[in-house]
Parts: sequence; C-alpha cells; structure tokens
Amino acid sequence: MTDSAKLQIGDKTYELPIMVGTENERAIDIGALRKLTGLTTLDPGFVNTGSCSSAITYINGEKGILRYRGYPIEQLAEKSSFIEVSYLLIYGELPNPEQLASWQDKITNHTLIHEDMKHFFQGFPRDAHPMAILSAMVAALSTFYQDSIDTDPECLDMSTIRVMAKLPTLAAFSYKKSIGQPLVYPSNELNYGGNFLRMMFAVPTFPFALDQELADVIDTLLILHADHEQNCSASTVRLVGSSRANLFAAISSGISALWGPLHGGANQAVLEMLGSIAKNGGDVNKFVALAKDPDSSFRLMGFGHRVYKNFDPRAKIIKRLCDNVLSKQKRVSDPMLEIAKRLEEVALADPYFVDRSLYPNVDFYSGIIYKALGIPTNMFTVLFAMGRLPGWISQYKEMLEDNSRIGRPRQVYTGKTARDYVPVSER
Ligand code: CMC
Repeated sequence: MTDSAKLQIGDKTYELPIMVGTENERAIDIGALRKLTGLTTLDPGFVNTGSCSSAITYINGEKGILRYRGYPIEQLAEKSSFIEVSYLLIYGELPNPEQLASWQDKITNHTLIHEDMKHFFQGFPRDAHPMAILSAMVAALSTFYQDSIDTDPECLDMSTIRVMAKLPTLAAFSYKKSIGQPLVYPSNELNYGGNFLRMMFAVPTFPFALDQELADVIDTLLILHADHEQNCSASTVRLVGSSRANLFAAISSGISALWGPLHGGANQAVLEMLGSIAKNGGDVNKFVALAKDPDSSFRLMGFGHRVYKNFDPRAKIIKRLCDNVLSKQKRVSDPMLEIAKRLEEVALADPYFVDRSLYPNVDFYSGIIYKALGIPTNMFTVLFAMGRLPGWISQYKEMLEDNSRIGRPRQVYTGKTARDYVPVSER
C-alpha cells in the first residue's frame, strides 16, 4: 500500500501521496494540492521543498554524508580522478577502461576554442572579474557551436564534451587577460588539472615545469566540488534548462549563480575576511562578535550550510589536504591558516554558532589551499565552477531525460488590490 499523508482544512480531509526515496527520505507529493484544495504552499528560499527527484547525489546533512551515484566522497577523493568522476556523474556509472579512455580522448581533443572567440577577451576591461568573463564566454559558446545546441541526446553529448574541454581554456584565458600576459594554448599531453595549471602559469619566455603533485591536489579539489544536488546554481541550471534552453546557456547562468558570496563566491570572501582580520591585528573575537550582532549584516564567511547541520565532509578532506600542502611546502605555519584555525576554534565554542549548527563549510578551507597553491584570489570561484561543471551537466541531462515540466513557482500576492488608473495630471 502506498504511504499517504492526510491534510485537514476546515472540515475536509485530503489525502496526499508520500514518495519514498532509496535512502528512505519521505516527501509529500503536493502536485495536486491546488487542484484539490485551491491552496498553494509557501516556502521562500525552498527551505523544505523538493523540486525534483534525482538519482545523482545523496547528502545526509545530519550525518555529514555525501555520495555521488552511491559512492562516498571520501573514496572518490582518494582513489578516483576528476575525469572519471565527471563520467560517473554524467553517465551514471564508473567507466570501464575503454569508456574512460574514449571519454578522456574526446575531452582532450576539444580543448581549443574558436580563434575568433579570443577577440572577446580583448573587449573586457582589464580588471573584470574572471567569473563574469567565464559566464559570458560560456554563453558565447552557443553562438560558435550552433550545431550542438539542440537538446537531443547526440547534441547534448557533443555540447557536454565541448563545455567540459573548453571551460579550463576559457578560465585560464580570462586570468591571462586580467594580468596582461599572452594567452597560453592548451596542451593535450597533460591531464585536466595539469593543462589548466600550464595555461594559467606558463609564459613564452620560460620553459614550464609542471608540478604533478600540485596538479593532483587540484584534481582532488575538483572532485570535492563536482556536485551537491539541488544547490542554488544546480537549481538555476535546471530551471533555465527546463525551458529547453541549450546546455551552454544553462551552464552560463549556473556560473552567475555560483559567483554570489553566499554560494561559491564564499571561497574568495573567506580569504578577504581573513585578510581584514589580519589587518585589524588578528583579533578573531571582534569578528565573531560582529557576526553575532543582530544589527550587523556581517557573517562569518565559510560558516553555515543549508543542508549540513553537523559537519561538511568536504571541509574535513580539504582541511587535511591543506595541512599536507603547507607541510610539503615546508611552511609549517601560514598566517591566514593560523587565523582560520583560531576563528574556527572560537566560533565552534560559541553558543551562537553551536545553537544554530553553524560549522565550517567547503569554502572555509578551499580558499586557503588555493592560496597555498599560488592560485590568485579572484580565480578561487572559477576553480569551483570548473569542479561543479559535471554536476551541472548531469542535473541538466537528468532534467531533460525525466521530461521535466517547465519550472514555474507560484507566489502569494501581497500587493495592492484592483484600483483605477489616475492620469498623471491628477496625481
Ligand atoms: N555567520 C553568522 N551567522 C550566520 C551565518 C554565518 N556565516 N550563517 C547563518 N547564520 C545565522 C543566521 O543569521 C540565522 O540566525 P537567526 O536564526 O538568529 O536569524 C541562522 O544562522 C540561520 O541562517 P540562515 O541564513 O537562515 O541559513 P540559510 O540556510 O538560509 O543560509 C548560508 C545558508 C550558507 C547562505 C549561510 O549560512 C551563510 O550566509 N554563510 C556564509 C556564506 C558561506 O559560507 N556560503 C558558502 C556555503 S557552502 C558552499 C556553497 O554553497 O557554495
């Protein structure tokens, strides 16, 4: 017998089906609620609204669990590669050796962008934020690759390969533009992270020696960011895609959503906050007090999460990775890391943060590790976008395969009721 919930409104009782997920999550299906009762639901910020069913990523925020297609994030971060995880997310299963080689090969062979796209970079102001450039350039892919903007499976596969292959190139070009250095073309001999690092840091006047350990750390960081179910940017990608807008357009809007400081932009904001604490003499208590002050809009960046109410499993892995990177660089202590550790200690012992279950999230430590790896601050969120790309693609693909209806939330109108127009001379 299917589970159901009974809803009583006045003297009438309505029965609504309950859907049960594979991890026994239960959700009341309210699709027919308005038709049955004339009522709608109200949930600003989608705090408790499931927008879809999905077989991609599972999170248990109370237990600190994150799994892609059933595989724990800890195992994937330790044993897999970003390219393999991308395949897993997009196609649903880990690839066999032939599938992996073919996937890798296809991505490697599409890393160049159309030469004419390079002119766009000249048009942006030198101090433009790379996230703004990235979003614009990904949208522009739909003008250069019009043969893959339909939503049928073949076109989707082609646009998937193109955007996966070209995003690091676009990202690195946007950085090179901002520092006035010549653009460095992709090298198909290198892996995903290695190629990106070379395009970021190589200059024509010096031979470039890739630090493979560094490239491996980047690869792990990309895996940790690869998907996170129905977050703000993934929901944006789904919503835009639900109108059957093409993949490039949907990913471009996902990049814009990610840029905000409450989402992916938090990794840059964390480092800026740690910088301000250092500038103010390193007193973390002052900043903790400000974050608690109801009259101040200041928040501790890198703290809190809509879903994780215990700990963020990604933050745990990054914190370990961060210690390894710093010790390998023989930097026993980094002033930013020291402030971050003190801040974490003070906040975690403070009843304000404890009562609200506010723990360090993925962005708290990722900024510090990016800094240690020599990544410029304004590129932190770009790295998040590169990591999140396969997640966005898989969410878009699943939305199409489920033949989802167009996303169209309702509202409760609170404006003026009907009134007659008054000519301007009489106002
Ligand atoms: N510092 C101080 N107070 C906070 C913070 C914080 N970082 N986060 C939440 N609170 C307080 C908030 O003021 C509210 O208090 P009260 O109940 O007294 O009004 C309570 O905690 C609940 O907060 P909320 O805003 O209702 O929570 P939310 O689920 O809507 O927002 C969040 C989640 C991540 C946007 C928020 O915690 C935040 O702004 N954090 C800082 C930005 C950040 O680190 N973002 C990265 C998120 S993780 C990666 C990603 O999504 O990209």
